[in-house]
Amino acid sequence: MNAPDGFSCESAGGIWQVVSPLLKEDLEGHLPGFEDLVRAAREAKRRAYAPYSHFQVGAAVVMDGSVFTGANVENASYGATLCAERNAIASAVAAGHRQLEIVAVSTSAPAGNAIEQRSPCGICRQVISEFAGPNTLVVLDAGDAEDGRIQGEVIAFESLLPWRFRLG
Ligand code: THU
Repeated sequence: MNAPDGFSCESAGGIWQVVSPLLKEDLEGHLPGFEDLVRAAREAKRRAYAPYSHFQVGAAVVMDGSVFTGANVENASYGATLCAERNAIASAVAAGHRQLEIVAVSTSAPAGNAIEQRSPCGICRQVISEFAGPNTLVVLDAGDAEDGRIQGEVIAFESLLPWRFRLG
């Protein structure tokens, strides 16, 4: 499966495939920032430590208006591996932030690959849900367009993890 259905939205630096149930209004104010976030995720991906899978991931999150980044950090004991998204969120939370507004993810999967190779794993979704609100957005890097603009998918986090587990 490649990019899912939805509608396209363009900005000066990006072409975004917006997945339902998001509306154009939900994106207002965010659009110019998406490409900067994807660029930050790409930059973080360069610092991934992935000698076992050779699959590099970078994440950039906006929490309370501030941007934090993370990369995947693998371990010889494979289960000890830390994902990029969780590292970015942990940095932001440790700096005192709690409201997660946007998560941008960039992986080393080639642009045409399945969207499943570019979107957050189940554990990361649960961690995202801890700090996400009803309007939290997930932005996935889908590579560059021929004109040099960044391409990506945008989806409401709510639709990535329905019936998420919560205590209380
Ligand atoms: N990985 C992430 O960093 N984030 C995800 O959401 C999916 C997987 C990393 C973990 C591991 O280092 C590599 O990608 C392959 O699974």
